[in-house]
Amino acid sequence: MKTRTLGNLQVPAIGFGAMVLSPGVYGEIDDERAETALRTALDAGGTHVDTSDAYGVNGHNERLVGRAIKGRRDEVVVATKFGLAIPEGEPSRSHPVGYAFNELRVNAEPRLVRRYAERSLRNLGTDVIDLYYAHYPDPGVPIEETVGAMAGLARDGLIRHVGLSNVTAAQLRAAHAVHPVSAVQNEWSMWRHVDQDLLATARELGVGIVAWSPLGSGFLTGTVQSLGEGDFRHNAPRFDAGNLASNNDRYAPIRAMAAQLGITPAQLALAWLLHQDEHVVTIPGSRTPSHIEENLAAADLTLHPDTLDAIGKALAAFEVSGGTLL
Ligand SMILES: NC(=O)c1ccc[n+]([C@@H]2O[C@H](COP(=O)([O-])OP(=O)(O)OC[C@H]3O[C@@H](n4cnc5c(N)ncnc54)[C@H](OP(=O)(O)O)[C@@H]3O)[C@@H](O)[C@H]2O)c1
Repeated sequence: MKTRTLGNLQVPAIGFGAMVLSPGVYGEIDDERAETALRTALDAGGTHVDTSDAYGVNGHNERLVGRAIKGRRDEVVVATKFGLAIPEGEPSRSHPVGYAFNELRVNAEPRLVRRYAERSLRNLGTDVIDLYYAHYPDPGVPIEETVGAMAGLARDGLIRHVGLSNVTAAQLRAAHAVHPVSAVQNEWSMWRHVDQDLLATARELGVGIVAWSPLGSGFLTGTVQSLGEGDFRHNAPRFDAGNLASNNDRYAPIRAMAAQLGITPAQLALAWLLHQDEHVVTIPGSRTPSHIEENLAAADLTLHPDTLDAIGKALAAFEVSGGTLL
């Protein structure tokens, strides 16, 4: 697997996003299937594993990852996040989001940061987190203060690299002045544009980008015609039955390009992302071994400039139904 750098952290160009492996996200899943998925990802070179203390109940997702890396910790770049799984009795602030819940509750106060990290280390069964993110900026706390506490974790060896998720260019710049940030994790895919200021700032500061939901929460694979029960996308306007049908119609030219290239739409979506910047990496999620292997193989694809140009034109004409929210 080709590698890339996030700051000075080396990771495979395509890793694995583990969120899909906890119940209540993309539908049916159990721990046995989840463990098979994680093993498949690691065996196929997707050794950058992304989780969070907020995926699943009581650290479920981190504990799954902990079991999967047991005995092979040195092969894996373990990334996790804090700030949404707030200890009982602690206050929280509202961070508006488009998808599913309309808002998230955040607490990224510096006094809690070590407690979060120690809980994640226990869940993961490791003594160091390779890449530790503030999951969302806390509207009640200057980001410099949150990152100041993360710098303390790095100094004391609990974490190796500092990351930020869902931040603006200004927040990245302010945080980076306190402690070097290795990676920013924001949503970025063929149907979700990255903020150009953020991209320019990351380039200027030497910060890598980790693109979340790189398959557009499954849409860009071209395989989502309807949703099953217990799927959080029921709350997402872009996946509402009417919008989903018209989005699938409008996405047809990209699917056709993938077919012409002899690859799948998922592979085209991932390869396209990797061609946007040399410091972008992706973390697609899947419960299905054949999908995982298909996705990881996209790291080896080279897209011709004419293809990239044609994709750019097709995406410019692809008006997504269901507004700007997921
Ligand atoms: N920082 C944040 O705030 C944030 C927010 C959201 C996500 N994330 C991170 O980003 C990771 C990935 O995002 P995501 O899981 O939301 O979305 P995604 O990777 O864009 O899409 C996942 C969906 O795509 C399907 N899929 C994957 N590969 C496929 C293939 N080759 N063919 C057909 N279907 C395929 C999966 O279904 P199957 O299981 O059936 O394959 C699943 O339903 C998460 O795990 C998490 O680590 C971070």
